[in-house]
Amino acid sequence: MTSAGLTAHRGGPLRGRVRAPGDKSISHRALILGALAQGVTEIEGLLEGDDVLRTAQAMRAFGASVERLGDGRWRVEGQGGFSEPSDIIDCGNAGTGVRLIMGAAAGFDLAVTFTGDASLRGRPMNRVMKPLIEMGARFSGRSGGRLPLTLQGGRLKAITYRLPEPSAQVKSAVLLAGLHADGGARVIEPEPTRDHTERMLRAFGVVVDVEDRDGERHIGLAGGQVLTGTKIRVPGDPSSAAFPLVAALITPGSEVTVEGVLLNELRTGLFTTLIDMGADLTIANRRDEGGEPVGDVTARHSALRGVEVPPERAPSMIDEYPILAVAAAYADGPTHMRGIGEMRVKESDRIALMAAGLAACGIGVEEEPEGLIVVGSARGNHPAAGGAHVVTHGDHRIAMSHLVMGFAAEGAVSVDEPGMIATSFPGFVEMMRGLGGTLEEA
Ligand code: S3P
Repeated sequence: MTSAGLTAHRGGPLRGRVRAPGDKSISHRALILGALAQGVTEIEGLLEGDDVLRTAQAMRAFGASVERLGDGRWRVEGQGGFSEPSDIIDCGNAGTGVRLIMGAAAGFDLAVTFTGDASLRGRPMNRVMKPLIEMGARFSGRSGGRLPLTLQGGRLKAITYRLPEPSAQVKSAVLLAGLHADGGARVIEPEPTRDHTERMLRAFGVVVDVEDRDGERHIGLAGGQVLTGTKIRVPGDPSSAAFPLVAALITPGSEVTVEGVLLNELRTGLFTTLIDMGADLTIANRRDEGGEPVGDVTARHSALRGVEVPPERAPSMIDEYPILAVAAAYADGPTHMRGIGEMRVKESDRIALMAAGLAACGIGVEEEPEGLIVVGSARGNHPAAGGAHVVTHGDHRIAMSHLVMGFAAEGAVSVDEPGMIATSFPGFVEMMRGLGGTLEEA
């Protein structure tokens, strides 16, 4: 795919059955825990996006053997710990990669320098540095908690840490560091966030206590526990499935099924919200795959109405607000999204970029410090104007969201830097074309 630009045109209905790429969160964790473990971990359905491939490369640098056996099939052989890498670790665009690896590496007596692309170098690392420093890790490098940063790990002490922001990345970093801390680690979550680290640690044989107390979640583990290699089957990423599903909801005559989508309730806030909006979204064939609930999700073109999204739902759909904003653009009435300040520190300032992109497409939007209001264009099925070129600041989800917008808009919608889509969804263009979407390289 060229990086010059990509344009989505309005066309016929989108129809078909597809499989979502592997879940990004679970893919990072499978590689990292596999590398921390003793013995062999076999992974199926790994997301082979740039973010995850960077984590695979990083695990090799820390001494694990990481091999690709075939499509999504990987073998990781850990040595029961990390050794000091001989070079800088470049996590590319991946906030999850760098923050989880920092936590995992902090437990070992080694020095390592982390960096990333321009977007990642601008994102706050102090949220993970703070608890890791409290545990005894040391950091040097750029001021202001930005990459590149050098970590000196080892000799960690116990921590009880109440998350100041609802971040599964920070929770995971503290738990992974706690595996090698004298006394372990306890994280208190005022709002529950995705729990893949806890679930997967258990699959590797670690005892993790989870307790709900006075409306907060306490997650604790003892230090010195040994991880044993296992088999991991990565379910389909609901954050990626969201794009073809919303495309079907807003494009007349469409019906799309995405198979094998992760349905962990800490990730399904978007589906709940779309159903609140009147979406014809159904789930079939619910089953358990590798300790996570999955199912096949079908979306049919629907008349949507604007809603108030409860702010407490935000952690379960934090990556989905950009595509929700597109669904909201085609709804009848305003959709209020509040309590989403975390959106401003993702791969880009997603509140600002969605507001700008939707406004350029003729949609009424109002940006708030921690929120976004989108005034739907639909009375009946009136399409959005579109006809815009959107600047994505290299953010994959901003790009995919606006391309989905273009499938149903009057005028074509184009985005810059489409190559970045491969960080999370390498087959996006082919999948959308296969469903009947018109995407043109420009
Ligand atoms: C992730 C957690 C979320 C999410 C990110 C993946 C994870 O970030 O936005 O895409 O895998 O733990 P925060 O934990 O910073 O909210």
